[in-house]
Amino acid sequence: MAGVSQRYGDVTALADADLVIRRGELLAIVGPSGSGKSTLLNIMGTLSRPSGGTVRIDGHDVEDLSDRELSALRAGTIGFVFQQFHLSPGVTALDSVSDGLLYGGARRAERRAAAERALRRVGLGDRLRHEPHQLSGGEKQRVAIARAVLGGPSPASGTGGEGGGGGGEGPKLLLADEPTGALDSRSGAAVLELLHDLHRAGTTVVIITHDRDIAASLPREVRLRDGHIEHDARPPGGAPSRHAAPAPPGALPPSAPSPGAPSASSAPAPQDAPHRASAGGVR
Ligand SMILES: Nc1ncnc2c1ncn2[C@@H]1O[C@H](COP(=O)(O)OP(=O)(O)OP(=O)(O)O)[C@@H](O)[C@H]1O
Ligand SMILES: [Mg+2]
Repeated sequence: MAGVSQRYGDVTALADADLVIRRGELLAIVGPSGSGKSTLLNIMGTLSRPSGGTVRIDGHDVEDLSDRELSALRAGTIGFVFQQFHLSPGVTALDSVSDGLLYGGARRAERRAAAERALRRVGLGDRLRHEPHQLSGGEKQRVAIARAVLGGPSPASGTGGEGGGGGGEGPKLLLADEPTGALDSRSGAAVLELLHDLHRAGTTVVIITHDRDIAASLPREVRLRDGHIEHDARPPGGAPSRHAAPAPPGALPPSAPSPGAPSASSAPAPQDAPHRASAGGVR
């Protein structure tokens, strides 16, 4: 993204942000409450269109895409774990997660098998048929995480047998807003390990966190303050993650964001557009 700003009335939530995230990176976004972290993540995930600046994702200039095209891009590319996650009342954990695969076209039995693996992976194997009101806050968050990572490049199977087994392609990009914020340290560590597995399998992973230890353990840390990127610590030598793949034609350039690109439109945010991460909070 280049020169990206987000204003809400007279509040500038994000100011002139330049950020290039390469394929296969794993990074933390940190900063005080209200510094613009969630705003940045929502823009990165094309859930909201910025007031100004250019956002390119997977080679697409977000400004050029209709809300429908953005929904399709999200459905095929991006998994979200929201800070405010909402699970639909009356829907079991298993259904909530397997519904996230509806876009992939997999059969119901395959979706449910993949959902069950993902739920077991986050430690909810004995909560498959619990509805939201029967789950703790941390358990609900883990359902949302299972849903977001489902179909990732086989991290959920644990057996390497996932390929096409209902998981679809999985997210190329996983955006997680305080994924461990509501968890005890043991569940938090399990979730973090899951995110590392996804990264190892090739997913680009962006994690907002207040946890200094988590942030320090990741290869890159972007720090926000008052809507500005005040610090961006890259790996020594500026090398991309060892998992970074070459960018396809039309993808973001490796270093400088494209200058002089047209500014993004201020069209209404596609907040109610359907996408695979709706368990995360925008249903
Ligand atoms: N829809 C909105 N309307 C008005 N102001 C908003 C809106 N969303 C965010 N803001 C403001 O923009 C600023 C940045 O908000 P944002 O949610 O990005 O912060 P954050 O860094 O994620 O904070 P936290 O750590 O508390 O989640 C805050 O001052 C917030 O009050
Ligand atoms: Mg936030």
